[in-house]
Amino acid sequence: MLSKTDHDYGTPARTSVKLVTLEVDGREVTVPEGTSVLRAAALADVAIPKLCATDSLEPFGSCRLCLVQVEGRNGYPASCTTPVESGMKVRTKSEMLERLRRGVMELYMSDHPPDRAACAGNGNCELHAMADAVGLGEMRYGFEGKNHLAAMRDASNPYFAFDPARCIVCSRCVRACEEVQGTFALTIDGRGFDSVVSPSQHQPFFESECVSCGACVQACPTDALVEKSMLDKGAAERSVTTTCGYCGVGCSFKAEVKGDEVVRMLPNKDGMPNHGHSCVKGRFAWGYATHADRMLAPMVRENIGDAWREVSWDEAVSYAAKRLKEIQSKYGPGSIGGITSSRCTNEETYLVQKMVRAAFGNNNVDTCARVCHSPTGYGLKTTLGTSAGTQDFDSVLQADVVLVIGCNPTDGHPVFASLMKRRLRQGAKLIVADPRTIDLVRTPHVEAVYHLPLLPGTNVALVNAFAHVVLSEGLANEGFVRERCEWPAYELWKKFILEERNSPDAAAKVTGVPAEKIRDAARLYATGGNAVIYYGLGVTEHSQGSTMVLGMANLAMATGNLGRAGVGVNPLRGQNNVQGSCDMGSFPHELTGYRHLSDVATLGSFEAAWGVKLDPEPGLRIPNMFDAALDGSFRGLYVQGEDIAQSDPNTHHVTAALGAMECVIVHDIFFNETAKFAHVFLPGSSFLEKDGTFTNSERRISRVRKVMPPLAGKADWEVTCELSTALGYPMHYAHPSEIMDEIARLTPTFAGVSYEKLDRLGSVQWPCNDKAPAGTPVMHVGQFVRGKGHFVVTEYVPTDEKVGPRFPLILTTGRILSQYNVGTQTRRTANVAWHHEDVLEIHPHDAEERGVRDGAWVKISSRAGETTLRAQVTERVPPGVVYTTFHHQSSGTNIVTTENSDWATNCPEYKVTAVQVMPAAEPGARRAAGQGADAHAHAVAGR
Ligand code: SF4
Ligand code: SF4
Ligand code: SF4
Ligand code: FES
Repeated sequence: MLSKTDHDYGTPARTSVKLVTLEVDGREVTVPEGTSVLRAAALADVAIPKLCATDSLEPFGSCRLCLVQVEGRNGYPASCTTPVESGMKVRTKSEMLERLRRGVMELYMSDHPPDRAACAGNGNCELHAMADAVGLGEMRYGFEGKNHLAAMRDASNPYFAFDPARCIVCSRCVRACEEVQGTFALTIDGRGFDSVVSPSQHQPFFESECVSCGACVQACPTDALVEKSMLDKGAAERSVTTTCGYCGVGCSFKAEVKGDEVVRMLPNKDGMPNHGHSCVKGRFAWGYATHADRMLAPMVRENIGDAWREVSWDEAVSYAAKRLKEIQSKYGPGSIGGITSSRCTNEETYLVQKMVRAAFGNNNVDTCARVCHSPTGYGLKTTLGTSAGTQDFDSVLQADVVLVIGCNPTDGHPVFASLMKRRLRQGAKLIVADPRTIDLVRTPHVEAVYHLPLLPGTNVALVNAFAHVVLSEGLANEGFVRERCEWPAYELWKKFILEERNSPDAAAKVTGVPAEKIRDAARLYATGGNAVIYYGLGVTEHSQGSTMVLGMANLAMATGNLGRAGVGVNPLRGQNNVQGSCDMGSFPHELTGYRHLSDVATLGSFEAAWGVKLDPEPGLRIPNMFDAALDGSFRGLYVQGEDIAQSDPNTHHVTAALGAMECVIVHDIFFNETAKFAHVFLPGSSFLEKDGTFTNSERRISRVRKVMPPLAGKADWEVTCELSTALGYPMHYAHPSEIMDEIARLTPTFAGVSYEKLDRLGSVQWPCNDKAPAGTPVMHVGQFVRGKGHFVVTEYVPTDEKVGPRFPLILTTGRILSQYNVGTQTRRTANVAWHHEDVLEIHPHDAEERGVRDGAWVKISSRAGETTLRAQVTERVPPGVVYTTFHHQSSGTNIVTTENSDWATNCPEYKVTAVQVMPAAEPGARRAAGQGADAHAHAVAGR
């Protein structure tokens, strides 16, 4: 039987180094000081009945079921709230204890629906299990007395229901919402018999502050809070440990399965990124995997105006290979390329870049990380020596000051946000640098000490001003710099930073943030103890994205905030495998592990392993591919799991480039916008349908395990092997583990990685090799990867995207909790209940000036294009800035964004677009025409 509470030790583990030895029922057990008697007993293999205690929550002591006797003490203390003491002798079984426990259970059961079989867990309810454990047979009380059995059920949440009749008011849900999730949406209202669980102000769950993370459902020991999927489908038969396919937190889940059908995704208590927690996407929004829109048959067509023809896999693959080869013979070897996906596994991504380099015979391979975190790769590699975040997530629990720049963790990386909020509730100080008042600025029991609402596009001015304060006020840790960094580069940087143009007063004029506030925030960062930086696309998706990453690394080095737990510079990655797709050699100039093609030894090792001569010249980046398509030299593209027509900036430019190509091969699970320009469509497999690995934001490599067979018959890695083979470069692997073995052989930072090790340890963080066989949670300890840390001068250069009379507002973009990326997956789940369209946030002042009403349609125009959205008038954005998300294709947000990009990496400047906003009478033509590719997909599939 599967259980929500696998190996529940009753109360959380304690970390004290001081150990205490006691005796439980005659068994000696040694545990850290502060451990509860309940946990100590569980560790000694003595099960004490319990209901209100669970090991993910602090003990509460309300149910009185876990009573024990302690030698030399009077009474029957609750073992969950009694800490161990040295020499303690605990007795957990006696006639009296049994009588007391039976009495407690009898009271609970007399107010609980008697039909055990009606439990969604089919008898897997802890309440019933405890009734059995205490030997409760006959009950002395009937159901005639006052009870809650007729209480109203709340089924307002799309994914779970609350049945007060089954509630025992143990408060586990309330504590889970507070301690695990940090939302504080639940209370126990009333007293005694009238006590009842209440979301927000007696609201239904859906209308309350609840963010649908499901922590309360997981914590509930009865079926009072239960997943609707369990009620619909019944209990699971088996469970498979795998990794979430959504964001870069990379939560570990146990997929509970009945036949080939998922009935529940249960966050894995042993999962290192999430420790048993999850968000609404990973836990509940998995229904897209079997949505009717899934494309299940390969299709081909001669021209993009022709009707699609469903064909066999063999025909589709040989047709694709033939067309690519024809293009190469006509236009040359460099006329085709491929795009790898940050949603696919490491093994699949590795194979796509291998196919491009070895079978296409060029280096025209790029990845969607180009449009999100490529500046992270450049900036962190240049300064510290490796293109990845410096810490593990748990490191935040040792931070004293948390600086959040250009990311919105509660929406984008919710499980990590919960961990961060826990640390902030414990007293760590928070600085938020973001134009918007994101939730973290003020959320229950968390408030930023400083919110710096800088103008979009001015990050570099701000970070330089922080550094100016540090250096001019003598707050730098020059001992650290002398020992760990290149001193001459530091001196050059210091001289530059101390120039007046980098002072807080100068920055105030550019950023709009008062100089004194910048000074105070910088002082806090430099002097508040362990200071850590977390950042996101609000840093990278700028024309100075790379400069800002360099600037943050400079600041962290100058203050000595690198190389130990609780500090560091950490990118929060958007997609599940952005880190992995970059690690796997997806960029046109690098092989796996970020080694440049010009490194002769590395190139030679790949040539020897792959048995082919490789081109030593870097290939085209995605934007270069588009430009080359329009000038006629790039004619064929293979795209795996990426909807470039929707996700890349300046849609008109992208679609013109796609329309100019002679063969576009789209490999995806849904018919997307890019597929409208395709000649070959290869149906992809979701994360539930294949084996492999994902690497999350903390460099953690975790297994993805096949939960059900691929719906279209093949996992993506198998298709790549077949296409490569058809192109004349045979690839054969019996299982993705063999692909990982090859990656490990060719990549020093992955040398110690194998499926056997991942199965044994659960997950590992690279570098994982002979020096670090169990992986590396914190990087740059003792020495930077590049040897000495390198300071780089970071000149602030204003973006070319200027506001003016025609386009007076700045549009910036971001994400919302319930949706993910361009919405391909989440729009096909009940998550649309929370967010069914993108809206434009506009400040009341700007709205009033334009006659824009809340909820009315507005037209947003930029020099790239225009679209319509509904307005949301809110002070969340400052005057002069408007904000939207890009989850719905009907919004066409990227029609408006321009092709400005980061100077070093071409990462698009999504975060700054000069726009005008005016009232519109009705939605634009794009909305009126239907839902873009979704409608097209239905037509193609005859649905
Ligand atoms: S809903 Fe569940 S967890 Fe919450 S108080 Fe009731 S029984 Fe306990
Ligand atoms: S689902 Fe999450 S946010 Fe909502 S009440 Fe439960 S614990 Fe709180
Ligand atoms: S935080 Fe990210 S990885 Fe974790 S469950 Fe949510 S979407 Fe999945
Ligand atoms: S489990 Fe200890 S009082 Fe409830």
